[in-house]
Amino acid sequence: MGSRLIGYGSYLPEKVMTNQDFEKIMDTSDEWIVQRTGMRQRHFAAENETVVDMASAAAARALENAKLTIDDIDLVIVATTSSELDFPAVGVQVLGRLGATKNMPAFDVSGACTGFIYALHCARAFFTAGMHRRIMLIGAEKMSRFIDWTDRSTAVLFGDGAGALIFEHSTSSYSGIIDTVVMSDGREFEMLHGSMDHHIIMNGPETYKKAVTLIPAAASYIMEHAGITADNVDWIIPHQANLRIIQSGAQRLGFPLEKILVTVDKHANTSGASGVLALSYGLDNGLIKKGQLVLYPAFGSGLTWGAALVRI
Ligand code: UT7
Repeated sequence: MGSRLIGYGSYLPEKVMTNQDFEKIMDTSDEWIVQRTGMRQRHFAAENETVVDMASAAAARALENAKLTIDDIDLVIVATTSSELDFPAVGVQVLGRLGATKNMPAFDVSGACTGFIYALHCARAFFTAGMHRRIMLIGAEKMSRFIDWTDRSTAVLFGDGAGALIFEHSTSSYSGIIDTVVMSDGREFEMLHGSMDHHIIMNGPETYKKAVTLIPAAASYIMEHAGITADNVDWIIPHQANLRIIQSGAQRLGFPLEKILVTVDKHANTSGASGVLALSYGLDNGLIKKGQLVLYPAFGSGLTWGAALVRI
């Protein structure tokens, strides 16, 4: 019992905030941001633009791409930690926005930057159990909501956006979501978390040290579990938090630079939306092709980390 990818879509807000825009409002520089992170710009949602707006836009594009309507879907899972409303789930609100006329389950997963891997993990389990025919996974974040404009060490790092993938049940175990692994360690939560006043609190250097270890560890584990090596993988799409983390992880794993898909320069860190936005970018630009194998390792607040193997 497996799955196959039948549609994808993404949405980035219109407003682009460049490093030069940050130079005008805080003590930072394009040079520092590019050297330390690889980021050059990020998209910010309009003030009245919500996580549900972005998730619905990405979902609508994925449905269009798959030539389906929302009523053709059996389950919606949204990876997000930035919804403006505490409840109901973003997934349920998306059903309303897209005009679903049949009832179906929809829920959110809160795995921070690893959120989309958690969503893929759930979907794999549901397909393996034969419980759903078509599952839509959405990663949607409005990280700009959490920016502390007095803290330059975190303010420049994040962006907004959403991406969606639609998977359909398949009898082949060689397509779609091939394998997933997810982990968490609650003892380290203070390293990176949201504060009561909705700001990002992060010990950057400590988080960096964990990321460069746990991202390759998750990737190695899943390749070993699936019985493959770096040679069998066409693309590695690591969570887009920092170009230095991406390159060091990929090099540790033996991936040549041309197999690494990088969007951190364009989108910055969009947390749970980062990997699916990068995947959509790769598909839109003809980089990732049908049949290729993508490895997607991620790491984030929790601490959480994990990896997924997806055949396009
Ligand atoms: O997505 C979830 C996972 N998140 C991550 O994986 C992020 C992991 N951490 C990182 O990517 C990096 O630690 C950062 C990009 C956040 C920071 O880079 P760093 O090389 O670790 O810098 P640092 O925090 O050690 O700071 C170095 C210097 C400090 O100045 P002094 O004390 O050396 O004078 C900071 O005050 O850089 C300064 N600094 C800045 N300077 C200009 C910090 N932020 C900025 C800034 N502009 N925006």
